[in-house]
Amino acid sequence: MTLMAIIGGTGLTRLPELTVVRRERIATPYGDPSSELIFGRFHQQELVFLARHGNPHIIPPHKINYRANIWALKEVGVASILAVAAVGGIGAQMVPGKIAVPHQIIDYTYGRAHTFFETDLEVVTHVDFTHPYSPWLREKVLTAAQVAGINVIDGGVYGCTQGPRLETAAEISRMERDGCDLVGMTGMPEAALARELGIDYACCAVIANWAAGKTTTEITMTEIEANLAVAMADLTSILRHFVQA
Ligand code: HPA
Repeated sequence: MTLMAIIGGTGLTRLPELTVVRRERIATPYGDPSSELIFGRFHQQELVFLARHGNPHIIPPHKINYRANIWALKEVGVASILAVAAVGGIGAQMVPGKIAVPHQIIDYTYGRAHTFFETDLEVVTHVDFTHPYSPWLREKVLTAAQVAGINVIDGGVYGCTQGPRLETAAEISRMERDGCDLVGMTGMPEAALARELGIDYACCAVIANWAAGKTTTEITMTEIEANLAVAMADLTSILRHFVQA
């Protein structure tokens, strides 16, 4: 069994039900990861947990050292990553409190260190990213959800914005015309960096709110946190079945 990692996002700074075995600070050529890596057992399965925004949750999406995070996970032998990320719902079925397993990404971010292939190159490398999420890992999440009796949404296009502010209504309309179903701030360059290092990667997108302009009310952190808290019980149950499969 190869080592897998869970990257926890907003609402998942700690992994409930994880028995911590040890914590390790990994130095990388790109600087420090968001937090120490937590090695532990989650329902008999060894895994590594990384809090994307740090613990406590203080690193905003555009300041996350995505390269250090992915490098550190590779360094300790991680072969697959399940990324948990809070998102806003754009598509009608992307109802707050539900979980989606996206199948595609559009990257709207800028100015983020987004590749390992930029200096000291022997050859210029262009990784294939046609299917940004590993199909087998997506399937494994979907099967785990089914066994757990949780109705997750299979597929969706994740649009990744720069943040940390939320979007304007016009930005969301444009994203919808582009084909985005979900909007979040951390999906890229994380997914692409995992691909560059040959790590399988899939995402559980936890829908925290309706995206800007989809309702008449203001989006508040209180609303986001309340919906995330509701979805976390489902997420933990999916993860439990996922690691045992
Ligand atoms: N937009 C971007 N990122 C998010 C949102 C949103 O509405 N909700 C949670 N993360």
